[in-house]
Amino acid sequence: MVKLTGNKKTRTVIFISGNGSNMKNLIKFSKMKNSPIVVDLVLSSNKKASGIKYLKKKKINFKIFNFKQKERDEKKILEILKKRKTQLICLAGFMKILSGDFVKKFNGKILNIHPSLLPKYKGLNTHKRVLINKENFSGCTVHIVNSKLDSGKIIMQKRVRVSKKDDPKSLSEKILKQEHLLYPKALKKLLSNH
Ligand code: GRF
Repeated sequence: MVKLTGNKKTRTVIFISGNGSNMKNLIKFSKMKNSPIVVDLVLSSNKKASGIKYLKKKKINFKIFNFKQKERDEKKILEILKKRKTQLICLAGFMKILSGDFVKKFNGKILNIHPSLLPKYKGLNTHKRVLINKENFSGCTVHIVNSKLDSGKIIMQKRVRVSKKDDPKSLSEKILKQEHLLYPKALKKLLSNH
């Protein structure tokens, strides 16, 4: 489990693949006085991720790895993280699956946010599947990443009511708003001496 030493902020790297709204939110959170994290670097699996514009504007370090040669990329990433003394990885809309080896090296120190009430609706197209199944509730989950997809220990969840009028877009927007509240809360909970 992630534990802090003294009052130092946890050195965090965020992994993204796209829009990056959770990333932006975590960066804003990291700048707050009582935040337990400092965002040291962002890693994107997609050079066209729109989140990158924000990083350029805010002069935040980022690197791009497309994971086409996954083993090679993961090895390079591990070297970078070691050099930067990374203590925590936050996946935020990261669409690649990290290898078991990579996860083991950061055992218990990789978090993910998933737009469903895990263990229900692991994987992709969660909102569509929730609506097809006429669920009354969906939500989001922050969990530790282990070697099985969306299956690690749950840190925190937030339930969101599904209305009859919802389509995948409206549901995803409702849930995303809650994700932005949940991820910082879960980090505070996890890094508990802050
Ligand atoms: C979020 O719904 C997240 O839970 C999922 O992908 C979406 C990413 O959104 N894994 P963003 O890139 O953070 O805006």
